Amino acid sequence: MLIDGQHYRTIWLKNDDPTVVQIIDQRNLPHEFNIEDLRSLEEAARAIKEMHVRGAPLIGSTAAYGMYLALLNTSEEDIQSAAQSAANILMATRPTAVNLAHAVQDVLAAISGISDKEEAVSKALETAHLITESSVSHCRSIGEHGLELFRQIQQKKGVRVPINVLTHCNAGWIACIDYGTATAPIYAAHKEGINVHVWVDETRPRNQGARITAYELAQQGIPHTVITDNSGGHLMQHGMVDLVIVGADRVTRQGDAANKIGTYLKALAAADNDIPFYVALPSSTLDFQLRDGVKEIPIEERNSDEVHYIQGWYNGRIYKVRLTPFDSPAGNHAFDVTPARLIDGLITERGICEASEDGIMELFPEQKLLITS
Ligand code: MRU
Repeated sequence: MLIDGQHYRTIWLKNDDPTVVQIIDQRNLPHEFNIEDLRSLEEAARAIKEMHVRGAPLIGSTAAYGMYLALLNTSEEDIQSAAQSAANILMATRPTAVNLAHAVQDVLAAISGISDKEEAVSKALETAHLITESSVSHCRSIGEHGLELFRQIQQKKGVRVPINVLTHCNAGWIACIDYGTATAPIYAAHKEGINVHVWVDETRPRNQGARITAYELAQQGIPHTVITDNSGGHLMQHGMVDLVIVGADRVTRQGDAANKIGTYLKALAAADNDIPFYVALPSSTLDFQLRDGVKEIPIEERNSDEVHYIQGWYNGRIYKVRLTPFDSPAGNHAFDVTPARLIDGLITERGICEASEDGIMELFPEQKLLITS
């Protein structure tokens, strides 16, 4: 998508130096746009853990390129053992987004049985590229399928009034490689000339909505308004939301969806007000091995400083300021799980399905054979 009119993706191999992976460093967006070089496994792992990159699909791609960097730079004779230790380091960075585990497993599978370093490096790179390209094409397809929802609402509402869609966190192209998941249908609708307006939840504590989703939408010229996290219910009660679309970090085979903390409350409010609530995700976010999301999805707990402090821009500089009393402890659960019963549908690259085991299996029948539990 565009930044200042120029097309970017969030991760790529450096043009004149294939030993370097480049990322958009998200930490200071929207006030500073920085490109960062990743040269080693350690740098890739830090970029994921400290959220230079974030968002489930992008975490997956970064982990795959991290595996490539690990093999490229290893001095270990035993390639398989070097790959396994790299996998362990990457897997320990962030627990909730299953895309990370899938990407690491894909690279391990691609290099399995290879003992020659050059061959393993080339396979790992090919796999990282493949994961990245399929993420782009999956997000594009999510956009095409989700567009249908906007067309249906427009038919009911007419073309003069905007369709108000609410989203939480950043499930946009900056959380992916291009297009985004929750934003892909919004971009597709806007491109088709549908009158769209987006309510952007600020998404405390790291404010991915206020900082990143708002930035993306502004850069693509999409009308939007940033709202506090607690506004959604009020807007829904007053007919100011037509549709909710969020992304996901892990969706179980019965359709329970883990996403940024606060998503569940939006789903409850949407159900109470009869507003369609959709989760947009590529199949790399589906975890077919899990069924009950509330019980089984690991929820990341992050440093309480993210709650104690808030970051912002003043007079040309970025500052962090303290919000809470020095004596008050803070809790920082990063994700919650929205049960399938509150989800009207899952928008995937293969189409929209019911958030249920039957609905998901109808779109992904090949997975039936792979379920082990
Ligand atoms: O902690 P984050 O910023 O990585 O959490 C991201 C989200 O919850 C996104 O909504 C989700 O990964 C969907 S990404 C397209």
